[in-house]
This record gives sequence, structure tokens and C-alpha cells, in this order.
Amino acid sequence: MLLFGDTGKAITITETERYSLMSFLEQPTPVIRPNRCQLFGPASRTELFEKMAKSSADVINIDLEDSVAPDDKERARNNAIQAIGDIDWGEKTLSVRINGLDTRYWYRDVIELLEKSSERLDQIMIPKVGCSGDLYAVEALVTAVERARNRRKQIAFEAIIESAAGLSNVGEIAATTPRLQALSIGAADFAASMGMATTGIGGTQENYYLTHNGQKYWSDPWHWVQTAIVAACRTHGVLPVDGPFGDFSDDDGFIAQARRSATLGMVGKWAIHPKQIALANEVFTPSEEAVAEAREILQAMADAKARGDGATVYQGRLVDLASIRQAEVIVRQVEMIADSKAT
Ligand code: COA
Ligand code: MG
Repeated sequence: MLLFGDTGKAITITETERYSLMSFLEQPTPVIRPNRCQLFGPASRTELFEKMAKSSADVINIDLEDSVAPDDKERARNNAIQAIGDIDWGEKTLSVRINGLDTRYWYRDVIELLEKSSERLDQIMIPKVGCSGDLYAVEALVTAVERARNRRKQIAFEAIIESAAGLSNVGEIAATTPRLQALSIGAADFAASMGMATTGIGGTQENYYLTHNGQKYWSDPWHWVQTAIVAACRTHGVLPVDGPFGDFSDDDGFIAQARRSATLGMVGKWAIHPKQIALANEVFTPSEEAVAEAREILQAMADAKARGDGATVYQGRLVDLASIRQAEVIVRQVEMIADSKAT
């Protein structure tokens, strides 16, 4: 990165230096739109498209990647292109997950989607991103096709962190391009890449526990990668999203995973079956009690400020200027959701 010093001469600074420089700047704001639930469906199953469009998910992900068999890739791509133009997707954010850069399909996914689909397509999801160069490669291709076809709407990106490299490089990935609106964790591929001894997709893992006095206490093997994704996203104004929870018969497990993610700062979660949509929407919409409490804290702090105090007591606990920022996260979230319904 180039900066201009006192002398007006360009100086080069490293990534690390750039991050430290950000502390005096405002933390960037992610795109303002609801992203509580992203519903996936294989592009090979055309009968699902209308149902997906009528669902209450905020984001629709038509999948060309791992839910589509290799022999079906071309047909699935054509189905997706057709559905983008033909189906009424309402106000939803419409995304297509392309194949990974380690396959022979991805470049045709990009070219054909952008050459043949209508401008209703909002974004493409890029799986298995391992470094910022991966996004650069896709962006170069996307930009060329957009220019060649005079597409007016710039396609946004979302990417999945689901490999050891993705976790190692998550900061540079989140910083790559303003097209990037969201980063999700992909638990299954991440576990495989890390060599984790589990076949579970998210949630509690049988062998990941502590013991005390003969009791087992389960811990959360996804905690570190989720926190790393949230930190990278929040540094660069990108939405952090929790990925799939495979066992769609386990509502309690889904809700517990989603609540942990919301507590860590994630804004939403994938649904791989329609029954998970309401669960995600419930967890990622601030509850009436949470909103009421946040407003009371803001009022208590306004009263404290009027008295000339920077800190006060709310229901027996300390609240101070940081509490304002915490409460504002909740109030802003619920106002944004209400605004999106009003338009
Ligand atoms: N979106 C919208 N509707 C869906 C749906 C989806 N992803 N998956 C299933 N449905 C519908 C079914 O068509 C059925 O509708 P009906 O009541 O009108 O008949 C209803 O929901 C119940 O479906 P069910 O029979 O329980 O599921 P299934 O056996 O048809 O499909 C899966 C189960 C998991 C294979 C399917 O949900 C699926 O393909 N999910 C997405 C997988 C994916 O995209 N993975 C990639 C990301 S990890
Ligand atoms: Mg994956």
C-alpha cells in the first residue's frame, strides 16, 4: 500500500502497519441489508426455485458447487441462468455459488452467469477461498465480462472460509475488494482441510470436551475460526455469516450453534433445509426484550450525560460509554430489519 508522508513522497507500508493505522479511523460499515438466513438449494433441483423465492430467507443461494453432481454441472448452470430471469425473487438478495478455483468449472460459471443471466443477479459466492489472489482472479474475470457486456449492475461477492489457508489468510481475504460483502464459515470443508477428526457439519462434536469431577462439558471446536472471521470482517466492513448446520432434524443443535454465532458477532446463518429458516430468523432478529433493554441503557446513559457523568448503574450493573456502542449495535440491527420490510 502506498501512503504519502510529510515530504509528499510515496512511502510503502506493510499489511501489519496498515492495520495498526486503522485504529484512528472509523471501523468501516458493512453493506446495509438483512442477512439473517441464506437458503441454499442445488441448481439441479429446479422444482425448489419457486419455493426458495417464496421463503422468508433474506438471501437465496442457488448452488452450482458441492450439491451438484459432476455430470450435472452444465445443466445446473443453465437452470440457474434461466431461474435468475424467470422467477420473481422479490426483495431477496440473489446469489449463485460457483465452483471452486480448484475445479475446471469455475471460469465457465463466471462467464456464462455474467454473459447470459439477467441483471437480477446480485452476487456470486466463491467457495474455498484461500488467499486474496483467489478473489483477485475472479474479480479480473468478472470485471472483463461486465465491461464486454455493458452490465450496469456491479456483481457483489461473498466468499467461504473453509480451509486451513482461508483461516490463515482471512485478514487479507476480507481486505481484497469492495465487491466483497460477506464471508461465511464452511464447517465441513474446513474440518476436512484442517484434518479435524469429525464428520459433523457444525455444532457440538462428541470428542471435544473437558471433564470435571467425572462430568463432561462440551466445548466449541468452531469458536476460533468463527472469531477470526468476525474480526477480519469487522476490520474491513464485511458481513460475517455462520455456514451450514448439517443435521436438519436437530433444531436444538441448530439454535444453540446460531446463538453462539450471534453472540460472537455473526449476522446470520445458512439454511440447508427450509425448516431451518424460521430458526435462523428468530435467532438473528434481536428480541423485543433485547431491544427494550438496549433502549433503556441508551436512556440511562443520556440521563447520566445530562448529569455530567460518563458511567452509571443500570439494573445493578455498570454501564458506560462502551455500553452505548453495544446497545447501538442491537438498535441499529432491528431498525435496519424494519426498514428493509418497509421498502
Ligand atoms: N429450498 C426450498 N424448499 C426445499 C428445499 C430447499 N433447499 N429442500 C427441500 N425443500 C422442500 C421440498 O421440496 C418439500 O416441499 P413439499 O412439502 O412442497 O413437497 C419440503 O421442503 C420438505 O422437503 P424434504 O422432503 O424434507 O427434503 P428433501 O428430501 O426434498 O431434500 C435436502 C432434503 C437436504 C436434500 C434438500 O433440502 C437440499 O438439497 N438442501 C440444500 C443442499 C445444498 O444446497 N447444499 C449446499 C450448501 S451446504
Ligand atoms: Mg464447502
